[in-house]
Amino acid sequence: MDVTETQELGTLAIRLAREGAELAAARREGVVTVEATKSSLADVVTAVDHEVEELLRRRIAEERPDDAILGEEGDDTPGTSGLTWVLDPIDGTVNYLYGQPAWAVSVAVCLGPPDPREWTVVAGAVAAPALGHLWHAHLGGGAFRDGEPIRVTEVEHLGVSLVGTGFGYVAEQRARQARALTGVLPVVRDIRRLGSCAADLCMVADGTLDAFFESGINPWDMAAGEVIVREAGGVVHGLRGERASEGMVIAGNPGISALLAEVVATAHETRSGSV
Ligand code: IPD
Repeated sequence: MDVTETQELGTLAIRLAREGAELAAARREGVVTVEATKSSLADVVTAVDHEVEELLRRRIAEERPDDAILGEEGDDTPGTSGLTWVLDPIDGTVNYLYGQPAWAVSVAVCLGPPDPREWTVVAGAVAAPALGHLWHAHLGGGAFRDGEPIRVTEVEHLGVSLVGTGFGYVAEQRARQARALTGVLPVVRDIRRLGSCAADLCMVADGTLDAFFESGINPWDMAAGEVIVREAGGVVHGLRGERASEGMVIAGNPGISALLAEVVATAHETRSGSV
């Protein structure tokens, strides 16, 4: 894939994220209610999640009919082009429901099949209208927030690092995540739990967080943020040098993310059970 194509895909990702965010923000002016719950009572979906995803799917079908689509709220759409769009219509749905500002529309396009173990994210955009920001990146083009170039921080010590994390919706998973947190919290400057993994990763990219870790996140929560962190000079990986996956995502500048991975792995080993 040449640079021009990557850039065009990036431009479309921005347009889609912006359009989805405008729709979600307009709907937020009215009454937002829970339409259904998913993995647990805490894990909600609103009618707006569905409406935004349908809009994004319609736009992609119009402009890129041969591409595959993997979205949080719909069935996978197969494609023939070798590209997959990865959509989170509202990342931070609980924040959206309560009127908390950290929610975002996340749009990524990946080279490869609809399988995060096999794809490479080539471009992504994350629009968070209530935070007033849009982040984007495409491979080789750098990363941007509201059009301005961004970089991860150069922090070298965990003790002066502000670290984001998040929790899933299932009780047993939260208990494991809490055990990992007891290893991390004593050794960092502080922890932030914003409630949108996509926004968390973008904040690592723009330096408003030094690092991020979370286990159990879905491919649509992280795909766009992943390319934005990398293009901002950061790394995104799992534990022990593994690829980032639903198992674990750690992000930051290369030095700090390696230190954080060690602490999380130790917390994991000494506090029994997987993180
Ligand atoms: C959630 C958010 C949250 C993270 C959860 C995700 P959703 O996504 O990204 O920050 O901690 O693991 O499931 O459910 O709001 O799309």
